[in-house]
Amino acid sequence: MKDRTKPRHSAAGLAVAGLLAFSACSLQPKQANLDASAQGGSTGSDGGQVGTSVGGQGGSVTSSGGSSSGGSPMGGGPQGGATSAGGSSVAGNPAGGNSLAGSPAGGNPVGGNPMAGTPAGGSPQAGTSAGGSRTGGVAMGGGPAGGNSAGGVAAGGGPAGGSSAGGNRSGGSLAGGNPAGGSPAGGGVAYGGNTAPDDPTCSAFTPTAVQTMTPVDAQATSLVGQMALTDKINVLSGEHTTGALVYATAGMAFRSLGVASLNIPNYPMRDGPRGMRNIMPGDVSTCFAVAEARAASFDLDLEYKVGNLQGREMRAAKNELALAPVVNTLRHPRWARAQETYGEDPVLLGEMGAAYVRGMQQPGGCAACAKHYVLNDTDNNRMQADPTVDEQTLHENYARPFEITVKKGDPACIMVAYNMVNGTHCTENKAILGDIVRTQWGWGGFLLSDWSAAQAGHGAASMNAGLDLEMPIPSAFTTLSSDLTAGTLTSSTITDAATRIINARTKFKDLDASYMASTASFSLAGAQEAVDLAARAELEGAVLLKNDGILPLGSLATTVGSGSPNAKIIAIVGPDNNLPVAPTSTQNNQKNFVSGLGDRGSSQVVAPHAVSYFQGLQAHTGGLTIKQSADASAAQGADVVIIPVSMAHEDEGESYGGGADRQNMNLTTIHPLHWTTKPTAFIQSVAAINPNVIVLLNVGSAVIVEDWMASAKAIVQTFYPGQEGGTAVAALLFGDTNFSGKLPFTVGQNEADYPQFQNSGSAAATIDYYHGYRLFEKNAKPVRYWFGYGMSYATYKYSNLQVLCSKVSPNGRLNVQVTVQNTGKVAGDEIVQLYVGYPNSTAPKRPVKELKAFTRVTLAPGASQNVQLSVPAKDTAYWNATTHAWTVESVAHTVLVGPSADPTQLLSATFTIQ
Ligand code: BGC
Repeated sequence: MKDRTKPRHSAAGLAVAGLLAFSACSLQPKQANLDASAQGGSTGSDGGQVGTSVGGQGGSVTSSGGSSSGGSPMGGGPQGGATSAGGSSVAGNPAGGNSLAGSPAGGNPVGGNPMAGTPAGGSPQAGTSAGGSRTGGVAMGGGPAGGNSAGGVAAGGGPAGGSSAGGNRSGGSLAGGNPAGGSPAGGGVAYGGNTAPDDPTCSAFTPTAVQTMTPVDAQATSLVGQMALTDKINVLSGEHTTGALVYATAGMAFRSLGVASLNIPNYPMRDGPRGMRNIMPGDVSTCFAVAEARAASFDLDLEYKVGNLQGREMRAAKNELALAPVVNTLRHPRWARAQETYGEDPVLLGEMGAAYVRGMQQPGGCAACAKHYVLNDTDNNRMQADPTVDEQTLHENYARPFEITVKKGDPACIMVAYNMVNGTHCTENKAILGDIVRTQWGWGGFLLSDWSAAQAGHGAASMNAGLDLEMPIPSAFTTLSSDLTAGTLTSSTITDAATRIINARTKFKDLDASYMASTASFSLAGAQEAVDLAARAELEGAVLLKNDGILPLGSLATTVGSGSPNAKIIAIVGPDNNLPVAPTSTQNNQKNFVSGLGDRGSSQVVAPHAVSYFQGLQAHTGGLTIKQSADASAAQGADVVIIPVSMAHEDEGESYGGGADRQNMNLTTIHPLHWTTKPTAFIQSVAAINPNVIVLLNVGSAVIVEDWMASAKAIVQTFYPGQEGGTAVAALLFGDTNFSGKLPFTVGQNEADYPQFQNSGSAAATIDYYHGYRLFEKNAKPVRYWFGYGMSYATYKYSNLQVLCSKVSPNGRLNVQVTVQNTGKVAGDEIVQLYVGYPNSTAPKRPVKELKAFTRVTLAPGASQNVQLSVPAKDTAYWNATTHAWTVESVAHTVLVGPSADPTQLLSATFTIQ
């Protein structure tokens, strides 16, 4: 086993397969066909065409109260292509005809909203528009057809674009379907939204995957053709001069070898995923809210833009490969690196990962490396863990996020995890490398080992399994020459691996003379574009878990709820009252230094600055007094008391330099380690002095809130909020911006209800099929906050769920529509979620339901929108361990749509695949 204490990371040492034809996705990164600005601003001219729907369901659900009131009549759709925002214009829907009683369906703001297309649109570089896209980016077109007319077609993709491309900053339909997000996302690919009005019969369609890495560039083939065997072998390893890594040369552990005689420089890389990792002096980069927070936005356009900006920052610093995104499934909230990934759901994970990759791999950006494949979800024993997993569980829950990332993002690289799977190290596990990634998925990128993950002397075994590049120095690959002599390895295996690596470099123009010669470097850190985007990530990602009326603090309080409009004195108290704070590069590596910005492991970032909660609130003073103190007694006399609770690297951080998995999920006994009095007791003592307590959970994933929640009038999961965290959180608390984030994981009431978390030793842990909401729902265990849950200052009512075709062909799409109304007094964004349930499944195992699509809609007070969501029937498949393939069951399934995974909040209907 590797010695993970070696100085590699020490301060001293180192310092929905789519609806569209993805035409431009053969994307040479140089080709950007990203004029999404032309899209999305559809005219909504033609709504109502799908109104003759089939089997809709009655019922409506009000998201806030959970009361379901029954019975909007169903039948036809209330679709209106009406452009009015008011939503009241059923009559405005000339075509729809089936105006519906009971549902104010008609107009929605989007179809004709000229803003819809603009914000996200344009080139990714344009992405300054945090604000703009918030407004414009409504997912769904007006009437279904309305949305489609501009979005899809103009998008250049294909028929079904929906309103997405430009305007839809949110989730496309996930599932296999439209990759997404509206954004100019995919290398010239205009992603469809969720609408599929062109497909009234739900018949067959041909999804096309994003293809960046194939076919192999002629330049790559030619270069490798000129290489001697030793050159090729060199290309497969991290930089080394004497067979050992020379740590004295900072950055060396983050370069693999080139071939000097062919003018191929060494290959520089840097970690993400909340910004470019600080390795070399001057490695300052934009520090975003962590991936878990961005997952809570369910906003693929946002994630596309974050990936894009990071890609440009990497490139500007002459880094050519970003070691991000993380798409490991969050099986248990205690995982040290939970903050780096996108939550517990494979579809959300895959869609977010793919959006990030598409953004990053645009021209001007760099290659991405999705990690850590696979089942890397405990940290203390990440070098020894040996989970036992069955085929179905592996494919559906753990490989699936990578598969979606590959099919909808096509990253240049996948990083292979430290751990074993079913008794074999991932780095030499052909069943999970070659067989799945290459043969099943047909992916053309290269497989790189996590740092020192490959086993010493196991060159042939690793390469024959599919590993291409060993980092940071050859240890397994020292045997390659002798393996060739011994006949355990063929030279074509070596040539193929070298070709995959060089191909990734030529695809991204790393070997173009003009790029190699350029010395131009620039930093986006601190630029307005970066500041706005970092703020947007937290504005959309923070999740309001509880509000007993204390929020908002500002002017909205006069119109919404009771609020605290008269708050004059706000006290920020507790040990974390000064967070977040930007660490210097020295502090970044300092044990026990708490920044509030996230882990000090490989995802560390030196931010240009960080706005603390105190500073953010101060900027809002307007006659208020903001105080800060470590002491609970400072709560005395304040109108409102804010208690930020932050974890540190030592609480939940990558397992070196003091990082570890969390020891439990509560805030009562151990965590945060730097709190002498733990938060439960502290919060209670503050509440005894002053009941107006707001708790900010500056934490990467779920904590149990049962024993202190009664002492807090409001709870916000801020996550690690990024460099603009203070500004964004203040805007949310005051109500300048509405909350819209929703949890990407489930918060239970008891830790015992989560799956087994075996994070010591190498004894095989059996990975159960169920985790997250799937597990809580199956076992009927009490949930405090469901996956997908998050409050708003508005309230939303769901009604009139319609299945647009009751029968869907196995190659077709399930198209549904639901009416969502803002029944509150302020505008807001609502994340609409679609789950599929399998009451008639004969598969060995199936969850009660699972997420298949989501989108974000912006609704003015009182406005309604008909939201369409689409799921390829293929995405309802389960992994059949007998046939070793995905099996679509031709039976009746349930479709459930609503504001979260909470079963009491979902409208349901049935559809049949046949
Ligand atoms: C981490 C990876 C990281 C690599 C290089 C490893 O320990 O697991 O996520 O990319 O180090 O820093």
